[in-house]
Amino acid sequence: MQRNILVTSALPYANGPIHLGHLVEYIQTDIWVRFQKLRGNRCIYVCADDAHGTPIMLKARELGITPEELIARIGQEHQDDFAAFNIGFDNYHTTHSPENRELSELIYNRLNAAGHIDSRTIKQAYDPAEGMFLPDRYIKGECPRCGAADQYGDSCEACGATYTPTDLKNPVSVVSGATPETRESLHYFFRLQDFEAMLTEWARGGHVQQEVANKLEEWFQEGLREWDISRDAPYFGFQIPGTDDKYFYVWLDAPIGYMASFRNWCDRNGEDFDAWWKADSDTELYHFIGKDIVYFHALFWPAMLHGAGFRKPTKVCAHGFMTVDGAKMSKSRGTFIMARTFLNHLNPEYLRYYMAAKLGSNVHDLDLNLDDFTQRVNSDLVGKLVNIASRSAGFISKRFDGRLAGELPAPEVYREFVAKGEQIAEAYENREFSRVVRDVMTLADQANQYFDEQQPWVLAKSEETLPQVQAVCTQTLNLFRVLMVYLKPVVPTIAAEAEAFLNLDAQDWQSVQTPLLDHTINRFKPLATRVERDAVDAMIEESKETLAPKGDAPAASGPLADNPIADPVDINTFGQVDLRVARIEEAALVDGADKLLQLTLDVGGETRNVFAGLRSAYSPDQLRGRLTVMVANLEPRKMRFGVSEGMVLAAGPGGDELFILEPDSGARPGMRVK
Ligand code: MSP
Ligand code: ZN
Repeated sequence: MQRNILVTSALPYANGPIHLGHLVEYIQTDIWVRFQKLRGNRCIYVCADDAHGTPIMLKARELGITPEELIARIGQEHQDDFAAFNIGFDNYHTTHSPENRELSELIYNRLNAAGHIDSRTIKQAYDPAEGMFLPDRYIKGECPRCGAADQYGDSCEACGATYTPTDLKNPVSVVSGATPETRESLHYFFRLQDFEAMLTEWARGGHVQQEVANKLEEWFQEGLREWDISRDAPYFGFQIPGTDDKYFYVWLDAPIGYMASFRNWCDRNGEDFDAWWKADSDTELYHFIGKDIVYFHALFWPAMLHGAGFRKPTKVCAHGFMTVDGAKMSKSRGTFIMARTFLNHLNPEYLRYYMAAKLGSNVHDLDLNLDDFTQRVNSDLVGKLVNIASRSAGFISKRFDGRLAGELPAPEVYREFVAKGEQIAEAYENREFSRVVRDVMTLADQANQYFDEQQPWVLAKSEETLPQVQAVCTQTLNLFRVLMVYLKPVVPTIAAEAEAFLNLDAQDWQSVQTPLLDHTINRFKPLATRVERDAVDAMIEESKETLAPKGDAPAASGPLADNPIADPVDINTFGQVDLRVARIEEAALVDGADKLLQLTLDVGGETRNVFAGLRSAYSPDQLRGRLTVMVANLEPRKMRFGVSEGMVLAAGPGGDELFILEPDSGARPGMRVK
């Protein structure tokens, strides 16, 4: 029976490019969708850009464009990247769409009418200079526990303490630099606790992986709490019905974006939206997500759907996070690789193949080991699979005019390959893609072994045994065809080229039931070439450059794009900053603050004590005796370790990369910098 399956991947935020971490998800989903289509199921794959929220609003402001311009620009980049990696969405939309506004209002109104929305006044940090409430991540200050400077409003990166923004010492707004105030505001809440019984049952009903079900049980134990779904203006999002200045929190309308994208597809394809979303729909709904967003998809989302009278997901499939060479992706190591950068150096099908070889149905993190990647593509995809075709095709074209024999010499081997299809299909269905790849490669070994044993290159030497050469190569090419169909969801482009070479229409899963006999094939062209380690190294190098360019970089892709030049200040304002050449007389580690160094600076006869966040980039030895530039008239700041009397100037993109400024030779401590 043909299944009707609606599939989604999480909606990427419209404020930055797609990177290889994201691609784990889109590749995983796309393979599953392609498999379903190949099997003859009706499978619709939708996605969209997640376009709302404070980061997008602020990013647009920083770039001097409207949020609409920003999300249009990024949305196009996302779609180009996805297309290049062969992610075959049936529809790609945006959450900033009329469909999404309508559905968000509908769901909210239904939840409200059913008594699942509360409102009350809460206290929150407010930026008086910008006139906006501040999310936790937009407040920085000194850690209340260890005193480390420059920590976010929710947790300390130096000592790991977690707290609320009001606990920070000397807090500042990241947006304006102003000291935040505490203000009251009316907020709206979704009563998640109303759905505890339904969610408990749902979580135990096989809709999530075991590991996720266990996590949900923990959350049930802790008790479900109401969820704050409103944000105050200014906010880039949808206004809440019945209010003047309240907006839906981005995470409320984001999952509704799945429905909205599908609605948009239905309207253009004459499909009945309600048949898929009504509470008792007999269609299937699959959400593929990263493990970081399980809470939203396995608690809030089913509760919202249920409360508004819609169907719930058939399955929420979570995956782990990608690491590169065993470590978190890192901008300074060049392992924070953008989709575009990969495309500049390597064939996207190779990433699909490697991801498939690593992906199971669990939520474990998966490592992109660059040596292993190179080796697997070369030895398996090129050396085993494509090799089957390349070694047998020549005989058929040169000796038999491209014509395959009328019979298979070893039909039982062919039948064995076809019979393996069910096991492979089951692995695909259960998202055990590493198992698929393993099974296909075992069969590829068998096909190569068959060819080796028959020794067609020996048979080709005598006229008498020439028919056997045709038979053996017909057999091997038939085995190759079966394996290409099996791997078609993983490497669709290579599979399409194989179809062209074999002179076939688009194959489906059933096609392999009948072998190719008395059939003329085309000349073989290499379907895949080896990965050179140089290309991988060049990709890493470029990933370093994108984020830490040397010299003057073009504004479009350089640091200025992410960190544009600030608004002009007049010369008098600048003159108020007293910059001086300083000699670093002493540099020392600070106990209990693993980002700071304590510097003793000579500013021409006057000595200053400064705590500087340079520890990740410099050891004390590297700094002692050097000249640098400091802000000499910065108001002293009291820190847990002592008073900091100024600031040393350093350049860098943030993170671990920092370069102190050094004057030209001849400059002396105390000289004014103008
Ligand atoms: N906008 C939200 C999702 C809303 S869905 C209604 C979001 N966006 S995201 O751009 O941060 O992430 C998109 C998806 O990519 C998420 O499922 C996330 O888990 C996944 N990944 C992002 N980085 C990843 C890795 N490094 N590794 C694997 N998946 C990763 O979250
Ligand atoms: Zn701390």
